Amino acid sequence: MQRLIVTLDGPAGSGKSTVARMLADRLGVEFLDTGAMYRGLTAKALDRGINPAEEGYAVVGLARNCDIRFDFGHSPPRLFIGSQDMTERLRDQHVTAHVSDVAALAGVRQVLVDAQRKVGAEHPRLVTEGRDQGSVVFPNADVKFYLDARAAVRAQRRADQIRASGRHADLEAIRDAIVARDHKDSTRADGPLICPEDAQRIDTSEMTLDEVVDLLERRVREAVEAT
Ligand code: DC
Repeated sequence: MQRLIVTLDGPAGSGKSTVARMLADRLGVEFLDTGAMYRGLTAKALDRGINPAEEGYAVVGLARNCDIRFDFGHSPPRLFIGSQDMTERLRDQHVTAHVSDVAALAGVRQVLVDAQRKVGAEHPRLVTEGRDQGSVVFPNADVKFYLDARAAVRAQRRADQIRASGRHADLEAIRDAIVARDHKDSTRADGPLICPEDAQRIDTSEMTLDEVVDLLERRVREAVEAT
């Protein structure tokens, strides 16, 4: 079976997660949501009463000592820490508010980058999504994408998602939070959000979800045919 590693990086709200999941389905390959790993660890740290912004060493210790893994028997895969299924809590506001602090810890990144490469070795046909997948984790990926969209568009998409689940969404607050998280993710020393030189950059501001997935699928199939 031919190896096919496709990386999708980009800022919050660029549509990456949904696009990556749909693209993986269409290509018939596995899907890796690396943000879920940072989120799961954040939820676990908060459960333990750790404040990630102030007690980074404790979060790194937790990362080194707990087993963070996906159960790929489910679609989409479910995230476990040890025997605890964390999946339903990954998008909690509390988790979202602290996850950038966790993702900025070099010791945490070391553990999770290793875990992500292990997934790649075990599932060499994979669409993987995050901030550093093409730049750090899978520099030799077969196809690399960087998805972007204007901050206002990304905020609107996030607000629509929240409202669709019946909750109240404050557009301006969401936009501010997205811009702040982008800034933290782009300026950290280790594994910052960047567009790798060999990635195809796609601005999704004016595109529907289906248009984005169609385009990416076409580009991946073209790249596979060219090899
Ligand atoms: O994509 P997301 O919103 O689930 O990501 C959650 C956080 O984790 C976000 O602040 C960026 C960070 N992250 C990261 O630093 N590296 C990754 N590979 C994936 C996510």
